[in-house]
Amino acid sequence: MSHNTARKLDSKNAVLYLPDGQSIELPVFTGSENEGAVDISRLRSQTGHITMDPGYGNTGSCQSEITFLDGEKGILRYRGIPIEQLADKASFVEVAYLIVYGKLPNQTELDAFTDNLNHHALLHEDMKNFFSSFSGQAHPMAILSAMVASLSGYYDAASTAERSGDVDTNAARLISKIRTLAAFSYKKSIGQPFVYPDDSLSYCANFLQMMFAVPARDYEPDPVVVDALNLLLILHADHEQNCSTATVRTVASSHANLYASVAAGILALWGPLHGGANQKVIEMLENIRADGGNIKKFVDMAKDKDSGFRIMGFGHRVYKNFDPRATVIRKACDKVLDKLGIEDPVLDLAKQLEEVALSDDYFIERKLYPNVDFYSGIIYRAIGIPVNMFTVMFALGRLPGWIGQWKELMDDPTHRITRPRQIYQGQTAVDYVAIEDRV
Ligand code: ACO
Repeated sequence: MSHNTARKLDSKNAVLYLPDGQSIELPVFTGSENEGAVDISRLRSQTGHITMDPGYGNTGSCQSEITFLDGEKGILRYRGIPIEQLADKASFVEVAYLIVYGKLPNQTELDAFTDNLNHHALLHEDMKNFFSSFSGQAHPMAILSAMVASLSGYYDAASTAERSGDVDTNAARLISKIRTLAAFSYKKSIGQPFVYPDDSLSYCANFLQMMFAVPARDYEPDPVVVDALNLLLILHADHEQNCSTATVRTVASSHANLYASVAAGILALWGPLHGGANQKVIEMLENIRADGGNIKKFVDMAKDKDSGFRIMGFGHRVYKNFDPRATVIRKACDKVLDKLGIEDPVLDLAKQLEEVALSDDYFIERKLYPNVDFYSGIIYRAIGIPVNMFTVMFALGRLPGWIGQWKELMDDPTHRITRPRQIYQGQTAVDYVAIEDRV
């Protein structure tokens, strides 16, 4: 379907009056959940003006049918289905199918998709050599992005808008191989032999055995750990036009292939203001603990702009009430730690920090609440994932979203290359000065 023709135009236009006496009528349209938008696509050609919106907080870059979120009401739905229902009932593979293909799979479709994932789980043997070339200090996100980009050197990556590649095969390859790549980078970092995928296991159990099995003894993934991982991956599976997804779409808009676009998304996710926050949360909580657990000191520091310190895992560009994913994870955190018989003092610190911050005017006035990553690291740690792999886990979860959004963009014949404008504020025209005449 063409997204531009699908929109419902309102009967009245908006009118913009400019100081130079010009005015322009701008079409207004409404989304299926009644969000309104003013279409400014003819603004510059007709008036010479552009809009300024640093950070794009007020700019719609596309129309999408994948994810709906309402930051004021704390609503998140994939293809219309509330995140709470998916978290409670679905498997990550079902959710991946839902996001990429637009509907929940029936049993036959799910079986075929699962077979496809199993079929593509192995890496090309030559790729194993890559892992030896990274320094021992390399962050797993650096390795993951490089390896994902490298996949385009092994498979027909010509899945550009020309559609000469097989998009479905590349999507299944990526969803399956990213697990193997992530587990192999971990094994490499601790000097253990790679463990190959096992088709008889579920998506999450297969990943866990590649991470934690060793040739010397049998390994049976704990169902509590499998379920916890399944939940975390589902909660991260898509989040409409966030920083990394917008990056995937931007790269894809130049008709870059799926692997290249996703590799760019992984790098955007790495930043501590985005997916990298899950690692930073645990590091922050550990610092607070090492410092004697004085929560108020850290809350005061976060309020002091000169300190440069923020409470990691707090605040969100779009959620201004609560992050529904954080609500689900907070409950799961208690349950998982309890079932695994783990007492993590950092969980208590996190709860205290949440309580102190949420009753403080600074956080109340700015509508700063715990986000999805405030508690996710505590579960990851409880299930044995090392801290520097947390953001890799986020990437595993977010992959279906990146693929679904890449596909949606490629399927939209009206999409254009992403190319924002700017307002130049630099030096106006001056003549070149010969080096001997320069001061
Ligand atoms: N701790 C202390 N103060 C904060 C925090 C925080 N975590 N987050 C925002 N603020 C303050 C800002 O200093 C600013 O205050 P001011 O109005 O007095 O200047 C105000 O709240 C608004 O903050 P912005 O940075 O303008 O909000 P923005 O929407 O641009 O940023 C972001 C959102 C990046 C998530 C921010 O809240 C943040 O840095 N949080 C910590 C990092 C984090 O947890 N990131 C994960 C986000 S979720 C995800 O990507 C999966």
